[in-house]
Amino acid sequence: MASDTLVVEGTGSDVDDAWTAARRSLAGLPGGGLNIAHEAVDRHAADPGVRGRTALRVLDRDGDAHELTYGELARRSSRFASVLDRLGVWPGDRVATLLGPDADLYVAALGILKAGAVLAPLFSAFGREPVRTRLELGGVSVLVTTPELYRRTVQPIRDDLPGLRHVLLTGPMLDGLLDAADPDRPITPTAPGDAALLHFTSGTTGAPKAALHVHEAVVAHLATARSVLGLRTDDVYWCTADPGWVTGVSYGIVAPLVVGATAVADTRPFDVRRWYRVLAEQRVTVWYTAPTALRMFMARGGQEARRYDLSALRTIASVGEPLNGAVVEWALEVLGLQVHDTWWQTETGAIMLATPADEEVRPGAIGRPVPGIEAAVLAQGPDGRARIDDGHVTVVGGSAQGELALRPGWPSLFRGYFGDPDRTAACFADGWYLTGDVVRRDRDGWYRFVARADDVIKTAGHLVGPFEVESCLMRHPAVAEAGVIGVPDPAAGALVKAFVVLRAGIEPSRELRADLLGYGRRELGAVAPRSIALVPDLPHTRSGKVMRRLLRTRELGLPDGDLSTLENPS
Ligand code: PRX
Repeated sequence: MASDTLVVEGTGSDVDDAWTAARRSLAGLPGGGLNIAHEAVDRHAADPGVRGRTALRVLDRDGDAHELTYGELARRSSRFASVLDRLGVWPGDRVATLLGPDADLYVAALGILKAGAVLAPLFSAFGREPVRTRLELGGVSVLVTTPELYRRTVQPIRDDLPGLRHVLLTGPMLDGLLDAADPDRPITPTAPGDAALLHFTSGTTGAPKAALHVHEAVVAHLATARSVLGLRTDDVYWCTADPGWVTGVSYGIVAPLVVGATAVADTRPFDVRRWYRVLAEQRVTVWYTAPTALRMFMARGGQEARRYDLSALRTIASVGEPLNGAVVEWALEVLGLQVHDTWWQTETGAIMLATPADEEVRPGAIGRPVPGIEAAVLAQGPDGRARIDDGHVTVVGGSAQGELALRPGWPSLFRGYFGDPDRTAACFADGWYLTGDVVRRDRDGWYRFVARADDVIKTAGHLVGPFEVESCLMRHPAVAEAGVIGVPDPAAGALVKAFVVLRAGIEPSRELRADLLGYGRRELGAVAPRSIALVPDLPHTRSGKVMRRLLRTRELGLPDGDLSTLENPS
């Protein structure tokens, strides 16, 4: 199917129009069809005027910059696709990456898409347990990682993963395979509705979920990169999100390359001073980052900022957590720029609400729906989620507070949670996609974030499912039960805290608590609890679920509220 014939079903013509310009500027595959990697690199590499442009500038551990042109990235990623052929990878197979933001990641990600396989990115700071769960959940057959991460995270769980047929290690092994592979391997023809990306995310209950996205999502990546971030071909763009999460892929890899800009990737851990240096030395023009990072910049004070030449910087945008009005005001005063908030989710695949780069920011507000997105505020029921009566929701007009809902039909809406039709169905009601976020909309149609309507935790911009952390802690021989919540933190927004009940006969002690913290770090990595309280019991609902809400209100010293569903509310 040629790209200009793509149709999004179920949307009105006004809504379709909003995506039409982006669709038109995509090339489509030569023989028909659509492939994200073709739009991101190969069509640029085929253009003699663009081929030699820097696609990617990677800053290595020593801070040295390594560049790959569009032409080089196109050929190397085709070699990667041909390595996958040799491993017997078929279209639709899931191939995971457990890598930081380096050149290998870009090559692998694009190569996986070119092979028609599904890219399943993993956060490299995950411990063994989240990696094991996700590889299993995604039915991943090939993993690409570094020798170091393999030893630390994958080797100990390898025997538990019979479906994982091959592990490709970066360095001499991968380089050797790539050198011997075909740089002209044609892209496997994919249709707009074919699976392309599998992003893992967390809910309140149960295992993590794997949100499946299709090649057509690239339409929304391109449209929002232009309309919200204001990205242009001459931009030097830096998205600081880790490529193990949706932002790091959609806006770290796909968006800048589809636009034809230069993407900067920094392989070193966060450090305020170094980040200032990257912004200044790389002459970054558009910076897409997170409130946690900006809060850490702010905590360092304005003096630091004045030491760097940030004159190239034109746009700062932020995503993933509430952007404090104070941060917006600080950035304006110290960096001389507004911070443009953007709101979206793993499931939405692209920015949905935003203050675009060319619009005046209202501190404390996210902004408005982007072109092509119809948003609504739905009346809430007693559990905080949208009230559904007989399958019908209540849309509240004008200035209102309630659950944010979006009208399905935009190109990057997830096509379901892999292998979990029930949880997919639960996201939709009465013709709306329900976001699980509570927002307030003012009379002008500007949206503000109020809270999550569920128990998931946002720490430093990363979504953590309390159930996953609780289940892991409960595998420790001393633990009978665990309840996990987020407690407010001025920098990270929230930190993960666990309340643990010990098994009968086991005495609480400082050593045991330290042991549990170490166990959490080892098994869970970056999503482990930062603090653990050993408690005699946990509050439960009548149905036996831990009342995280009550743990939260007690932690914050707030009134308990309605305890009518509690079993032991004392
Ligand atoms: O609660 C909202 C919060 O992050 C959630 C989505 O997280 P995730 O699926 O990991 O995707 C993160 C990157 C897109 C949302 O349901 N969130 C996202 N953006 C904002 C936000 N909260 C407040 N303000 C935002 N701008």
